[in-house]
Amino acid sequence: MRDQPLEQAQFVRLGKAFGELESAHPVFGLAKEHPEIQLITFNPDAPIETQAWHTDNTYNDLPSAYTFLRAVDIPPVGGDTLWASNGAVYDDLSEPVQEMLSRLVARHDLYWRLRESNYLLRAGKEGTDAHYMSFTADHPVVIRHPVTGRAQIFVHRHFTSGIHHLHEEVSKSILDMLFNMVKQPDYQVRLTWQPNTVAIWDNWATQHYATQDYSPYPRAMTRMVGKPKIRPQPLDALRLYDSGVNWQRAGLIKK
Ligand SMILES: [Fe+2]
Repeated sequence: MRDQPLEQAQFVRLGKAFGELESAHPVFGLAKEHPEIQLITFNPDAPIETQAWHTDNTYNDLPSAYTFLRAVDIPPVGGDTLWASNGAVYDDLSEPVQEMLSRLVARHDLYWRLRESNYLLRAGKEGTDAHYMSFTADHPVVIRHPVTGRAQIFVHRHFTSGIHHLHEEVSKSILDMLFNMVKQPDYQVRLTWQPNTVAIWDNWATQHYATQDYSPYPRAMTRMVGKPKIRPQPLDALRLYDSGVNWQRAGLIKK
């Protein structure tokens, strides 16, 4: 939606029309009077590598259902955001591959990603490791979307650190196959921001990528994320490759 010069309170009201909003984030700062609003800024003096396809906050048992992003200060050129369809990627896999993936469970890990991208050092936050370590969650590699019922992949390059019960090299190869498919333009849309553009998206059904091609300009956005009612569910809980793990007891499957 173009030309939405919303005050913070109006932005929050818009978000609440979709349900409950989260009011904390392990990395991003929050607006003083509206903790539902997260401040996402790119400072060219302390650049942080952010380019990776991802679904927001999947290191939580309840990954955000919706994301709301509003352009506040955007560079004169660049800074586009791209989205890819997790359902379209799944649809284009052959049936034996769909079948195999639908039985696997992956780990999503914030701290793993921060370490891998050297974030704490780049952001001057050395010594704060413990703050990030608890943000891990397990989700099926393939989920059924809770609203549309569509089967889709649910892994991404940013936070998915591995697939349980597979040899590390096999896990890495399967994930790389999916990460590479997401890069295919056929599954994507691309948005060029203008001041006061607001984007709202289904965070589970998609993954997105923020281009970082606008240095030396800064970029500032405000973001809100909406809570889902249930955690991501597999296509068929009984068919998960369990290797001795009781997924229901582990809390993965809805009781
Ligand atoms: Fe994001």
